[in-house]
Amino acid sequence: MRMKLIDYIKDAAARKVAIGHFNISNLEALHGIFNAARALNLPIMIGVSEGERDFVGVREAAALVKSLREQYNYPIFLNADHTYSFERVKEVVDAGYDEVIIDGSKLSLDENIALTKKCVEYARAKNPGMLVEGELGYIGTSSKVLDAIPEGVDLSPEALTKPEDAARFVKETGVDLLAPAVGNIHGMLRFSKDPRLDIARVKAIREAAGVPLVLHGGSGTVDEDFVSAIENGMAIVHINTEIRVAFKKGLQEGLAAMPDEVAPYKYLAQSVKEVEAVVSARLKLFNMMQ
Ligand code: G3H
Ligand code: ZN
Repeated sequence: MRMKLIDYIKDAAARKVAIGHFNISNLEALHGIFNAARALNLPIMIGVSEGERDFVGVREAAALVKSLREQYNYPIFLNADHTYSFERVKEVVDAGYDEVIIDGSKLSLDENIALTKKCVEYARAKNPGMLVEGELGYIGTSSKVLDAIPEGVDLSPEALTKPEDAARFVKETGVDLLAPAVGNIHGMLRFSKDPRLDIARVKAIREAAGVPLVLHGGSGTVDEDFVSAIENGMAIVHINTEIRVAFKKGLQEGLAAMPDEVAPYKYLAQSVKEVEAVVSARLKLFNMMQ
C-alpha cells in the first residue's frame, strides 16, 4: 500500500475533500462499503464502536480489514470509534487498529484533556503510526432514528465547541484529529433533516486547532452543509445511522422476497446492495464527484 492513513487524511484536507468513515456490525455491511469504495477508487475508513466491536470481535474486526487491505492492496483503515475508557483504548492499540477515538466529550475540559493525554501517550509508545482522535463537545451517543434532538445535547452557540478550547485541547493532549460539536448530532431525525451546521465555527476551530477535523453524526445532514463543512476543515465524515437503516431495509426486502429461504447469503444479498448504494452516494458527495 502506498501511503499511511495520516497521508490520506492530509491529502484529502489539501484537496478540500473528505474521507468517508462508515460503521459496521457485520461482514455484509463491510462488503457493501468496500464494494462502493473500490468502484470509486477512494480510500475508506471502517468504524467499530465499543458495542459494534464487541459484536464483531475486537481482533476479528482488525483481521477482516487487514485481509481486504492485503488482498486488494487497498487503502482501507480501521478506527475504534467512540471509546470511553483508557482500558478499551489500550485494547485496540494492542490489537493494531489504525485509529482510536477517545471520547471524553461528557467530561469537563480538564478531565477530558487528562484522559485523552494518557491515551495519546500510550498509543505513541506502543504503536507510533496509530492516530488518536479527541472529542470536544457533546453531540449524543447513539446512531439511531430520532424523534427529537438527543437528550443532553445543547445546540445553542454558547454550548458548541469554542475555538480557544479546541486550541488548548490539541496543544495539551497532542491528538492527531479533533471531533468538535458544530451543530451536528449523532443519529438522524425521523421527520426532517438534521439541524444546520455552524460553518463559520468549523473554519475558526480548524484554524485554532491546527489539526484536521472530523465531522461526526453525518447521517441526516443537509448535502450543502457537508460540502461547506468539508471545504472549511472537515477531513473525515462519519456515517452510521444511514448504513443501519439501509441494511435493515435490504434485510426486510430480502426476507419478504424469499420467505422460505434459509441461506443467509441469499436473503442478505439485498442488504449488501442497499449499504453499497448509500455509501456510494455519500462518497461521491464527500469527494465532489457528479
Ligand atoms: O461515530 C459515528 C458517527 O458519528 C455516526 O453518526 O449515526 O449520525 O451517522 P450518525
Ligand atoms: Zn461519532
